[in-house]
Formats: sequence, C-alpha cells, structure tokens
Amino acid sequence: MQNLRYVGKNLFLEKLSIVNILKKCKTPFYLYSENQIIHNYLKFTKTFKKTNPIVCFAAKSNSNVAILKILGKLGAGADVVSGGELLKALKAGIKSNKIVFSGVGKTEEELKIAINKKILLINCESESEAILVDKIAKKLRKKISIGFRLNPNVDAKTHKKISTGKAENKFGLSIRNFKSFLKDISTYKNIRLDALSVHIGSQILTDAPYKKTLSVMYKLIKQLNLKLKFVDLGGGFGINYSGKEKIINLNKYSNLVNSFSKKLKCGIIFEPGRSIVGDTGVLLSKIQYIKKGSNKSFIILDAGMNDFMRPALYDAKHKIIPVSKVKSKIEGLIEFVGPICESTCKFGTYKNYQKIKENEYIAITNVGAYGSSLSSNYNTRPLIAEILVNKNKLKYIRKKQNLLKLINS
Ligand code: LLP
Repeated sequence: MQNLRYVGKNLFLEKLSIVNILKKCKTPFYLYSENQIIHNYLKFTKTFKKTNPIVCFAAKSNSNVAILKILGKLGAGADVVSGGELLKALKAGIKSNKIVFSGVGKTEEELKIAINKKILLINCESESEAILVDKIAKKLRKKISIGFRLNPNVDAKTHKKISTGKAENKFGLSIRNFKSFLKDISTYKNIRLDALSVHIGSQILTDAPYKKTLSVMYKLIKQLNLKLKFVDLGGGFGINYSGKEKIINLNKYSNLVNSFSKKLKCGIIFEPGRSIVGDTGVLLSKIQYIKKGSNKSFIILDAGMNDFMRPALYDAKHKIIPVSKVKSKIEGLIEFVGPICESTCKFGTYKNYQKIKENEYIAITNVGAYGSSLSSNYNTRPLIAEILVNKNKLKYIRKKQNLLKLINS
C-alpha cells in the first residue's frame, strides 16, 4: 500500500494521520485510499494499452457504490454476479454496455434485468442457462448477445478454495459439452454467441496458468473457426500481501494477450478485482482487552470475523500494524482475535510485537478486496462503516448499519 506509511511514529493514509481520523471516527471501520484505487486502475489499463481491453472491475471484490463510481469515471466497466451487483454498477454510473454478468446460478429474474438493461454480455455457465436466455429473449422479441464461460481445466496453482478453472470446479462449461452444444446452438434463434470467457481463479501469482489458458482458448477458437467479438479473460491477478510475495509481471502477459487478440481479431475483456482494490484499504480496530493465555496473550479487537472473513475462510495472512509505533517489545507470542464466538475468529499471531495496550489501535492491511464485500451480520453485529480518504479529505461512503434497524428488519 504505497499511500499507507509512517510519518515519524504515526501511520498516515495519503495526507491524513490515522490518529486524527480515530479521534473522529469510531472503530471498527474500513478506510480506503482513493488515489491508490485510481493509481491501480490506471496502471492496469496502461499495461494493456496496446490491446485496449474493456476492463470490467469485479464488483464482488468491493461493491461499495462510491468505489464503483470512482472506477466508472475512469472508464471502467463492471463484472457482476448478481442482480444486486448489476443494479449497484448502474447506480454508480457504469454504462450498461460495459457490464458483463458471470455466475453459475443466475435466476430468471436476474437474467431479465440483464436483458432489459441491455448489458454487454451475459456469460452463460451452462447449456440450460443459455436456453433460458433464449426463452426470455424470445418472449421479449429480442436477439441477445451471449458469451459462454468455459472451464479450461487449468490449475491456477492458488489456494484450493479460490481455484475455479479445474474440471472438478463448478464454474463454466467443459470444452466437450460446449462443442456438443455448439452443434445445436442455431436452433436457439434468440441468442447469438459473441464471446467466450474464462476465469481460472484468484490470487494467482505465476503466469504459467494464464499462458496455458490462452493456448487452450486459442486452439479451441481456431479449431471451431469461431468468429467472436470478445474473449473475456477474467481476473485473478494476485497481490503482494506479505510484502515478500512475487507477483506476476503483467507486461509479458500483456504482449501475449495482444498477439492473441490480433490473431483472432477479437476484443479483449478483463475482470480484475483484487489487483485494483486489494491494497487500497485498511481495517481499523481498537484493542478492547488483553488477556493472558497459557502460552500466548490474546489481543481482543473490536473487529470480528463477520467484519473481515478472509483469515477465517482461507487462513489468509494480512499484516497487522500499529497506528502508533513504539520501540519497546512484548516478549513471547500474541494473537490478535475478534469477539465472535468461533475459534477461527482470529487475525494473526506475532512474536515479539511492539508493546501495545488496551484502547490502542491497530490496522489490518490490504483488506480493500473481499473485505467489506464478504462481511456479514453474524452474531447480529451491524455492518461497519466505510470511509474514503482523498489527500487530506475524509468521506463516509457507507455509514455503520443501524443496530435497531438490523434487529427490527
Ligand atoms: N471474474 C470472475 C468470474 C470471478 O469469479 C472473480 C472472482 C473475478 C473475476 C475477480 O477475481 P480477482 O481479480 O479479484 O482475483 N473471496 C476470495 C476471492 C474469491 C474470488 C471469486 N471470483 C478471497 O477473498 O480471496
């Protein structure tokens, strides 16, 4: 997170001291850097400039309307996976002709919204879904442009819970089934196959799976002599969570994608999520209590796994850093935990951490993607606030959910 740094002993995001923000804003809350979002998006588009792809931001990674708006203003489209995300993207001003809709279980209602809003592409993930789109389109007397999401059976070499491109995964249609459906597709008069899409997984750190996917797609398109408007290559680009991870050099991949697009004479769509917003946010939390255990001390935070699920769901490691640094250290082990009644409600274990006390604050880093969007009301806890920083300005982009409303809803 380039915009997160210590000035002296205090942590700053852009030009604002987090200590000062904490005087005004009650924890826990998500805090994002607008300029980091802008920087990441522009860097991505610059990397693929030669190909000039449509960049559909994966709204599932962060669906806050204010964040979608920032990206929309820069020209981004959206990759959505529900009617809700689709309506949020439109509310944020993202043009419908830049919205693609993925997902294995789109309902008839959701498909109708997508058709009526004239989005760029519905990426069908089964034969039955394509047939349903045809049926809806027939009733509406329309011809709908569709894509098919394929399962290329490529191992993305990432965490097994976020791998989506292997035959054992529910996503996309197998190449064999796609070929067989293609023989019948002309009987469905109200759909037109304009695109193929793939998305093999998330937090991918090597380029080999991407290269393999490109070659599978190229061979298939050539073999079937398909004339496509677009190939949607999905997202999945990993970020450097620990500070030590090596991430993909996208410049090399960009050259491959460019020749792929030129040879097939098709446009390219990308659906990046994490690489655009992952390193743009921190979760601020207060140390509620400190309790000694038998071999470690528990640092009990006011943020819980309902606010931030990734460590509990994927054993994800997110650095936890103090808002104010001191030189003295605690001897032995500490574990940052939250208040939820689950043993997995914990955020990280550290040895010889700096001295910290009750009522002080920490920041959990790199939580801009799949942080807030994965949060829930578990244990009947209200969704927390989201705040955006731009240089020295602060703006609430989501208020904390009202507890009484939550109870009465
Ligand atoms: N396109 C499709 C069809 C997807 O399913 C996804 C993510 C993306 C694009 C964006 O992938 P990204 O560029 O963000 O890697 N909750 C998990 C990640 C789940 C990803 C689901 N699909 C996590 O916190 O790691």
